[in-house]
Amino acid sequence: MYKAFFGLSGNPFNLSPDPAFLYRSPHHEEALANLIYGVQSRKGFIVLTGEVGTGKTTMLECLRDHLSSHHTPFAFVFNSRLTSDQFFEMIAYDFDLPCTRTSKMEVLFALNGMLLERANQNRTTALIVDEAQNLDWDVLEEIRLLGNLENRRGKLLQIILSGQPELDQKLEQNQYRQLRQRIALRCRLRPFTPGETAQYIATRLGRAGLREQRVFPADVLLEIHRRTQGIPRLINSVCDNLMLTAFAMESRVTTLQMLDEVSADLQLNWPGQPMMPEAAGMPARYS
Ligand SMILES: Nc1ncnc2c1ncn2[C@@H]1O[C@H](COP(=O)(O)OP(=O)(O)OP(=O)(O)O)[C@@H](O)[C@H]1O
Ligand SMILES: [Mg+2]
Repeated sequence: MYKAFFGLSGNPFNLSPDPAFLYRSPHHEEALANLIYGVQSRKGFIVLTGEVGTGKTTMLECLRDHLSSHHTPFAFVFNSRLTSDQFFEMIAYDFDLPCTRTSKMEVLFALNGMLLERANQNRTTALIVDEAQNLDWDVLEEIRLLGNLENRRGKLLQIILSGQPELDQKLEQNQYRQLRQRIALRCRLRPFTPGETAQYIATRLGRAGLREQRVFPADVLLEIHRRTQGIPRLINSVCDNLMLTAFAMESRVTTLQMLDEVSADLQLNWPGQPMMPEAAGMPARYS
């Protein structure tokens, strides 16, 4: 809507996990390097965790691009509310296994054959599971068993489990200790620092065609960071709404007043947020 007004070629603050807009913060860079290294060196289990909206799915999309460009087959399980039968059916589809996809035994047999064949060609195969914090115990147990498949050179299937911090808590439970012991690499995404938030916003605007960002002055950038606590998804929502507000007011620069309006519309909560007069028990006219 505001693209032409700001001279942009694309929408800078889309909420989709699009690698084309990737900003490589040190944590994101390290996580991606770990994911790629873990798969290439056949580490077996890799766990990626991070708070809601910190970029896990975006990292997995980057990994997916990397695997595709290296002709490494993978299955991507993104719906974690699955029964174990549905799980096997899904990976059979993704790997295009020549078997009856509703038969777990046939899927396992065909999968094992494919993995061995690829391992003999010295090539690897990956299974990526997003939203893994929601997986039921029996599905995680099936995944653990798949992770056991190996030949003398290493694991046949590289498994990436990605999820919110609840995944770490789940894996701490006693019933998951066998799986926990097999995790070779762990990476954690953190919210951005104030400097990273500013670079993140400039990077996304740059990818959308704005070479030098003047839309968000320093005071607004700092306040966006404070109110979103450096969480990329929240930053996107706030910036998108701010640009829309600025466009409506025919201003090419956003202000703290606009940010107040947007924060109220989005019902943002942040530490140290001043209490609204009504919430403090005072009539609004005393504000
Ligand atoms: N490093 C980054 N570079 C560019 N965009 C990012 C980055 N990290 C996150 N984002 C953006 O933030 C938004 C949320 O990212 P994403 O969906 O990957 O988060 P998530 O951790 O998977 O969230 P959830 O826990 O809800 O699944 C997306 O719009 C994504 O493009
Ligand atoms: Mg996600």
